[in-house]
Amino acid sequence: MPDIQLTIPYTHCTFEELSSEDRILVEKAQDACKTAYAPYSHFCVGAAIALNNGEIICGSNQENAAYPSGTCAERCAMFYANAQHPQATPITIAIAACNTAGDFSSFPITPCGACRQVLLESEIRYKQPLRIILYGVKSIYILKSVRSLLPFQFDSSAL
Ligand code: THU
Repeated sequence: MPDIQLTIPYTHCTFEELSSEDRILVEKAQDACKTAYAPYSHFCVGAAIALNNGEIICGSNQENAAYPSGTCAERCAMFYANAQHPQATPITIAIAACNTAGDFSSFPITPCGACRQVLLESEIRYKQPLRIILYGVKSIYILKSVRSLLPFQFDSSAL
């Protein structure tokens, strides 16, 4: 019985090392944190998605007293992008998080399982890997595809 190891490829860098395009996307994600509605967790998350038509679509977490009814920033942004620009392909998503004082997390936060599943569907739907930029003040991770974040993914091929 062989033991198999999976490895996840990602790039580790600082804000200054990003391209100007990626910096703008990160700044949009940071700005989007300000639109979070997070009265329960006090944890504000912003996401910004660059589409291949040049648009940048932003979203933030929107919580609810009935906790599971709320949604994460990534799904807010992706569903809005898909609803407003169904013909445009999502190319890159940037994600940032801060507390209610506006202090950004030192290290990147990574999308929850449900968001990974939703972001994966975008790759499959648009036949285009979705780059992911996870922002932290001290370091940034860049992944070339959602598949790296979701090994053994469930998709329609199983249905
Ligand atoms: N949250 C996001 O919006 N994105 C993530 O990647 C992780 C968690 C939100 C959900 C909830 O509103 C708050 O952060 C605390 O979990």
